[in-house]
Amino acid sequence: MADPVRIAVTGAAGQIGYALLFRIASGAMLGNDRPIELSLLEIPPAMDALRGVVMEVEDCAFPLVRKVVTTDQPEVAFEGVDIAMLVGSRPRGPGMERNDLLEANGAIFTEQGKALNDHAAKHVKVLVVGNPANTNCLIAQHNAPDLDPANFSAMTKLDHNRAIAQLSQKVGGAVEDIDGLAIWGNHSSTMFPDLLGATVNGQSALEIVSQAWYEDEYIPAIQQRGAAIIAARGSSSAASAANAAVEHVREWVAGTDSVTSMGIYSSGQYGTAEGLIFSYPVTVNEGTPKVVENRELNDFAQGKIEATEAELIEERDAVAHLL
Ligand code: NAD
Ligand code: LMR
Repeated sequence: MADPVRIAVTGAAGQIGYALLFRIASGAMLGNDRPIELSLLEIPPAMDALRGVVMEVEDCAFPLVRKVVTTDQPEVAFEGVDIAMLVGSRPRGPGMERNDLLEANGAIFTEQGKALNDHAAKHVKVLVVGNPANTNCLIAQHNAPDLDPANFSAMTKLDHNRAIAQLSQKVGGAVEDIDGLAIWGNHSSTMFPDLLGATVNGQSALEIVSQAWYEDEYIPAIQQRGAAIIAARGSSSAASAANAAVEHVREWVAGTDSVTSMGIYSSGQYGTAEGLIFSYPVTVNEGTPKVVENRELNDFAQGKIEATEAELIEERDAVAHLL
């Protein structure tokens, strides 16, 4: 068997953590032939709860799990890690936008960026889930100047999956019939779910659904899906977020020829401001996401992309003191 992969998960005793650890440990993320070591970070008041979660991990007797470390020190948690999944942070409640969390969560990603810089493996792949995910990712990336910015990504895979599921329900087709769909920009209510490049069984999605449904129902539904779940459940999405995190890392490590969505360091593709963590349509080859080129963007799409870019620039300005 191959050498173990060391995976840090922050906020491991939280809701997403509880849905995530068992998927990782079962092999769903890196495969059934990949042993793993888990390095779990929490804050002191949650260490007891974390101990309970670890007891449950032990009780599963997962063959792939070689070691579990728990700590409240980021520098211990990130020592030598190959993958870091940054989940730990405050979730929003009803009536809040995700960027209302900037102040509360920004400090966490400053500290963790520094600890990743000094302690993680230089090839570490860092996925930020904690909200506001794109800007938290930007903060962590800026605080890790010795790491390649391409090592950092923010999660928009949940939005991507939501967009596929809602389209498949509308057209009455199977999820696997849908191809080419993507989320652009921020994991927020300005995100742009793009059907221009999407197909259903090879036919353009926008030939099947009406423009009115696309603009007035579909886009707002995807943008507001997180809030709808909070309103219904009383707390934010957890199992679907954990599933998306597993898929994001799996595709990042194993590669994918199918178009997916990832918030990645922008080098100005499609005219967006360089240095933002921006969600693009990507494929992944040998561990490197590549933005899909030559997407046709009409004025409508361009306007939506500019709006979500403007919000990311505003968020970046609001945390300038942390960068
Ligand atoms: P939760 O409150 O259930 O769990 C968060 C955990 O993080 C808690 O156990 C808490 O003790 C821990 N924590 C807080 N500060 C920490 C720190 N400095 N270091 C380590 N751990 C720390 O919340 P949750 O439902 O698991 O959500 C976690 C985050 O993920 C929230 O910000 C939420 O908004 C976000 N989220 C993002 C997406 C996405 O698509 N990007 C989807 C769902 C949720
Ligand atoms: C989601 O999209 O479900 C999460 O980002 C939680 C939230 O605050 O919407």
